[in-house]
Amino acid sequence: MAEPGKTLFIKTYGCQMNVYDSERMIDALEPMGYAQVDSPETADVVILNTCHIREKAAEKVYSELGRIKQMKADRARSGRPMVVGVAGCVAQAEGEEMLRRAPVLDLVFGPQTYHRLPQMMARVDAGERGLVATDFPAEDKFTELADPSKPRLLARGSTAFVTVQEGCDKFCTFCVVPYTRGAEFSRPAERVEREVRDLAAAGVREITLLGQNVNAYHGKGPDGAEWTLGRLIERLAGIDGIARLRYTTSHPRDMDETLLAAHRDVPELMPYLHLPVQSGSDRILGAMNRGHGADDYLRAVDAIRSTRPDIALSSDFIVGFPGESDADFEATMELVHTVGYAQAYSFKYSARPGTPAADHADQVAEDVKSARLAELQSLLKEQQSQFNAACLGRRMDVLLDRPGRKPGQLVGRSPYLQAVHVNAPDACIGEFADVEITDVGPNSMTGRIQARKEPGTAAHRDKELAL
Ligand code: SAH
Ligand code: SF4
Ligand code: F3S
Repeated sequence: MAEPGKTLFIKTYGCQMNVYDSERMIDALEPMGYAQVDSPETADVVILNTCHIREKAAEKVYSELGRIKQMKADRARSGRPMVVGVAGCVAQAEGEEMLRRAPVLDLVFGPQTYHRLPQMMARVDAGERGLVATDFPAEDKFTELADPSKPRLLARGSTAFVTVQEGCDKFCTFCVVPYTRGAEFSRPAERVEREVRDLAAAGVREITLLGQNVNAYHGKGPDGAEWTLGRLIERLAGIDGIARLRYTTSHPRDMDETLLAAHRDVPELMPYLHLPVQSGSDRILGAMNRGHGADDYLRAVDAIRSTRPDIALSSDFIVGFPGESDADFEATMELVHTVGYAQAYSFKYSARPGTPAADHADQVAEDVKSARLAELQSLLKEQQSQFNAACLGRRMDVLLDRPGRKPGQLVGRSPYLQAVHVNAPDACIGEFADVEITDVGPNSMTGRIQARKEPGTAAHRDKELAL
């Protein structure tokens, strides 16, 4: 066991699942006496939880390790050792190679080994160095990881992530995730439910269910049957205190009837769907191994919109995939015009080691990628502004979840995931308010509170409190 008083710093890169995983690592190490600190200089243990999705993301880690090397040397001079570890998808992808490239590292461990972190740290405490853990253990890390600890739960805000599905079997030809996260795995519904109940009891009002392909969720239900995401959502919506549910990231191939039904029948399920399409060209979608064409995607969009007409749609796009012609790119622009997004992320294709597309002879020139990205982003930005503009004058529920930039200001999220700024005292953090939107910008909106609402159950909608 570590002596009490040891300090831990975790820096998180990449997607929301890494955010969730970092929380679990803290949960696993706190019982060993580690307290979290917010800068690496003062930490006895530094962990970087890394992302491998694009080259830039992976390279960031090495520049950070360069800085940490200096800190470690400074601390060593004053007789205080520092242990440096790297977790996450770069650790999984590069494994032992990382120790050679960055000798500052003491341990390298992948996403499926976090439940073993206490044992790994005990070995490090005993003087071992150069530990590498990148296997995919047979045991279920979620079952073995400590349940989110109660004291830390209390310190959490009003929103939280919960991983329900991890890994991917789809093998898109550009993507590292199936290699870094392993095969698709769904947590049993009861485990998820228990975690969500604990979070609700600690004051969390909005839960985002996470998975690389979250709508492919097929966890074991309490009745022994496989539950779909739609069924899971229905169950979680009944938990006292849970007022909002979201999920991300979805694959267009896995939008099933039960999920559509949940969007129709479950008021707690927010009208927002992140449904990445990557490209609007059938030829490129085929080469990406996405398993669907542009028309299939548009049909999925129609289905969700006829079920939930006010749904806000979001997507991911890749420009400059190998072999992408001007005509292919135009097809993407056309798809964006057809759908009309509330929000979106777009990236230049980045060749990733070990993925099939990386070896493609027909790589697109960097300047062409840049020009296409700029054109696409300008259209997406315009659509986002239009979506926000259409909200001007409307009233909507906002969950006020954090302080704003100026004193007396709070920021919250609309049902459509827009950031909304309002004037309100800090005491309102964690509450819902009925807000009239008075000003809109491309990235956020401003509003005036019409009424505070009692936080908590679905009934909060009908129960207004006097201001
Ligand atoms: N599971 C999700 C995506 C996870 S990765 C899905 O299937 O949609 C998040 C996003 O990163 C992807 O949607 C894609 O747009 C982008 N991405 C993944 N690999 C990439 C690469 N090699 N180059 C550029 N962008 C990439
Ligand atoms: Fe990557 Fe495709 Fe799996 Fe998404 S579905 S994680 S893009 S391989
Ligand atoms: Fe990055 Fe791994 Fe998430 S590669 S996007 S941290 S699954």
